[in-house]
Amino acid sequence: MKRIVILLSGRGSNMQAIVERCADEGWPAQVVAVVSNRPGAGGLAYAAGRGIATAVVDHRAFADRGEFDAELARTIDHWQPDLVVLAGFMRVLGAAFTRRYEGRLLNVHPSLLPAFTGLHTHRRAIEAGCKVAGATVHVVTAELDHGPIVAQAVVPVMPDDDEHTLAERVLAQEHRLYPMAVRWFVEGRLVIEQGRVRHLDRAPQWVLAAPGHETA
Ligand code: GAR
Repeated sequence: MKRIVILLSGRGSNMQAIVERCADEGWPAQVVAVVSNRPGAGGLAYAAGRGIATAVVDHRAFADRGEFDAELARTIDHWQPDLVVLAGFMRVLGAAFTRRYEGRLLNVHPSLLPAFTGLHTHRRAIEAGCKVAGATVHVVTAELDHGPIVAQAVVPVMPDDDEHTLAERVLAQEHRLYPMAVRWFVEGRLVIEQGRVRHLDRAPQWVLAAPGHETA
């Protein structure tokens, strides 16, 4: 059984999708803990309700990022995870942290990387006149939003979209994409070669959402 620790900062809908698919599909894995940097994060209540251990490492209690990262790592290591999953975790993690979990730290980012790293991805995609947008699951490295890409989901940008409607359409696909990618990881189906992630069975490493079918 692979042990998964999930980090989040807010509502935790991606965490919820992973927890549910892991249980429903009988992955060789278990979500052993959910850790948040925000005491009030909605995702904590859901996890506790499912009987999953929870912890809070409040970033406001630390003088600098290094100290926060170190305490976060101590907390995570208590559960001896095989995989650490960032699911809407909104703190930048330092190089010592990303090195410690090298090759076993995944993130979902709400854009088609390498486009739109950082914040406000949907607003920026609309402002740029993009006709498609999406989400990326990637292996986390020291460079923000730049690690090897595991899988991507693509959705159309509609002429009347605002950042909220586009975020909603992308999020529905994140809920398909991220569990798929985490499952591949815990099943040992992924290899990282020269900065690229290959699926051993050549499974399509993308999800395409046709207009009108975005929430399928
Ligand atoms: C998701 O859209 C995720 O891609 C994004 O935060 C949201 C979290 O939603 N992550 C980032 O922006 C990371 N840079 P959730 O809490 O409902 O899963």
